[in-house]
Amino acid sequence: MTARIAGIGAYVPERIVTNDDLAKVVETNNEWIFSRTGIRERHISTGEGTKDLATEAARRALSAAEVDPKELDLIILGTSSPDCNFPSDACSVQAALGAVNAVAFDISAACAGFIFAMNIVQGFFMAGVYRTALIIGAETLSKVTDWSDRSTCVLFGDGAGAAVLKSCESGGIVDMMMGADGTKGSALSCTSRTFGNFLTKTVPKMGFMSMDGQEVFRFAVRKVPESVEILLKKNRISKQEIKYYVLHQANERIIEAAARRLNEPIEKFPMSIAKYGNTSTASIPLLLNEMQKQRMLSAGDKLMLSGFGAGMTWGAVLLEW
Ligand code: UT7
Repeated sequence: MTARIAGIGAYVPERIVTNDDLAKVVETNNEWIFSRTGIRERHISTGEGTKDLATEAARRALSAAEVDPKELDLIILGTSSPDCNFPSDACSVQAALGAVNAVAFDISAACAGFIFAMNIVQGFFMAGVYRTALIIGAETLSKVTDWSDRSTCVLFGDGAGAAVLKSCESGGIVDMMMGADGTKGSALSCTSRTFGNFLTKTVPKMGFMSMDGQEVFRFAVRKVPESVEILLKKNRISKQEIKYYVLHQANERIIEAAARRLNEPIEKFPMSIAKYGNTSTASIPLLLNEMQKQRMLSAGDKLMLSGFGAGMTWGAVLLEW
């Protein structure tokens, strides 16, 4: 058995923050941000939490798939910005949807979270454990962004994307892979949290993210083509057979560099980074949702999905739409 995407949905907060808006907060400008990243604007939450964005994206995916929440066996939510340590946001989404028959849990694989969630679902489906799953990538990274740090605050946006996966005999996910390298964890982290301490009466405080942008850049430009090539070779599929490469939307220059390394035309790499920024684990389902809306996808199309992020983590999924 294999996992097929039966419906996609996405949701972003209403408030748009442009590059010019950010130039009023930190020393930056539209020219720098756009030329270095391809980002023009992003959506930022003004109160909605990760679970709220996730629930709305999930409702839209369920409606597109014509699946009742009670039919769900499994809900996996990938996020690096959960609303609380526990309960998991996946459990909150389960409650909000009334998905009473689904087991629910969060995963933490940063921007590769949606790819990791697909891998996990495929494993469960292949083993015959579950038949209907909802996976969600949702972030409100704005709450862990240091709005005085121009090197990170211009990059990220809030949003959520979701997919309903159904077990089927053929088509859907053809193959998948994932990887992790914890030795590079400090390249992108959010560890400056102050923990509460009973003896010193220290109050716990949330930390902000920090990033070595160039290190992450180099890592992504190496790992994305590498994972794509692994799946192509293993499945004896030529690049010509791939209709689109749906990559994590971190930086337009990373996507262009990956296209060059793969020796593939940039037209096969759709992008939505200009209007959403880097939405971390939400970026791949957000992009798939845009492609669906623009009628770019037809049954049988072969797609290569690839993500990378903090950890460091990376992964790819080869699928038939
Ligand atoms: O989802 C995964 C998460 N992250 C990524 O994928 C990020 C990967 N990395 C990148 O996308 C790029 O490294 C960045 C977009 C983050 C930065 O681009 P860069 O070309 O690597 O710039 P840089 O860090 O080398 O900085 C160049 C200059 C520096 O000034 P000096 O030292 O040359 O005077 C920075 O201080 O640009 C300066 N700078 C800025 N200037 C205006 C850094 N941020 C800004 C800014 N506005 N927002």
